Amino acid sequence: MGEKGLADVVAAQTSISDIDGVQGKLWYVGYDIDDLAQSSTFEETVFLLHNLRLPTQEELDGITEALVNDREMTTFGLSLMETLAVQSSPMSMVRTSISAASAHDPDGWDTSPEANYRKALRLTARLPTRIAGYHRMRTKRDVVPPNPKLPHAANFLAMLLGEEPDQDAARALDVCLILHADHTMNASTFAARVCASTLADIHSSSTAAVAALKGPLHGGANEQVMKMLEEIGDPDKAEDYITQRLGQKGARIMGFGHRVYKTEDPRATHLRRLARSLGEGAGDTRWFEISERIEKAVMDQKGLYPNVDFYAASVYRSLGIPTDLFTPVFAASRIAGWTAHIREQYADNRLIRPDSEYIGPADQRYVPIEERTE
Ligand code: CMC
Repeated sequence: MGEKGLADVVAAQTSISDIDGVQGKLWYVGYDIDDLAQSSTFEETVFLLHNLRLPTQEELDGITEALVNDREMTTFGLSLMETLAVQSSPMSMVRTSISAASAHDPDGWDTSPEANYRKALRLTARLPTRIAGYHRMRTKRDVVPPNPKLPHAANFLAMLLGEEPDQDAARALDVCLILHADHTMNASTFAARVCASTLADIHSSSTAAVAALKGPLHGGANEQVMKMLEEIGDPDKAEDYITQRLGQKGARIMGFGHRVYKTEDPRATHLRRLARSLGEGAGDTRWFEISERIEKAVMDQKGLYPNVDFYAASVYRSLGIPTDLFTPVFAASRIAGWTAHIREQYADNRLIRPDSEYIGPADQRYVPIEERTE
């Protein structure tokens, strides 16, 4: 039996992303995440993850157009959202809507590489529309249709909040989407690849991924971070809170620690910068200040670094995104990576079927039910 939780097990070969956990580096297709966060856009990153190279201007225009054309909520999507907005939690809505999208995809059951690429872009294009539509419906406000003139990130904020974001907010979300788009063999991507390896379709495999993202040890952590910031409420209370939490047996501070990074997660560096600048821009640095104090206390007391989910919480709060939509926003980005991995799995598939080590009782004698004593 290897390490519990498959730690250090190489489960697949990929050309999509790579991490050096000791140096704190992340690359998409060999491009440093720092350069992508500085200079790329989500649209370009989607192209990169799926095509394993940067696009020409013409290709970038092409993928941008495809993502814009597929944003529109269909009648089917609208009626589904009306139902889900009544009772479904946001991540259950995301899971259901990705699954349900298969019932309405123009490419139907075509599983050719070309159809799968179109389906991947459709899923990526439409998820923000679904999240925003769901939120507008549950808060009894008019659904805001997508604006074809706006880039992906800006359009999402406009549909969600009902007004066009300023340039800083739009770029901040764009950077967040770039940073979250892929991350090697994380739990949700692994779930996607396991499902794809059975040759299940791209919607099924993406649904498996989003189900795995939901938990608080994975994508669900960002929402828990915000709840912790709210519970603390005051930078001066952060250190005591952490001391008390870490004093409880088995307690985890959400947004800290990572299976692969042994140093700072490079995505956290960008998100810290964004959290600070957005807070300063809005004249409210409270969430950033609490976060900084937590970061120091967790490092001093436990030696743990913040991961991608920690500063993402204060960034999303500054952007006006409701707390329970933080993980759906993660999904709206990671759908690009999931679908790229699913297509990569199909392209060179072998069923993923590991073994297990049996640790139960052996050689049991079957006792008829009338003779059983307990
Ligand atoms: N708070 C307190 N202690 C921690 C934490 C934490 N956040 N993370 C790890 N530890 C401790 C853990 O208790 C254990 O200590 P000990 O050896 O004394 O029992 C040690 O560090 C190793 O922990 P582990 O659970 O074996 O590490 P892992 O690689 O299995 O887990 C993790 C990685 C991310 C699940 C874990 O660090 C964690 O639970 N973090 C909090 C949840 C979180 O922020 N998740 C987001 C992950 S990154 C982005 C994403 O996937 O969404």
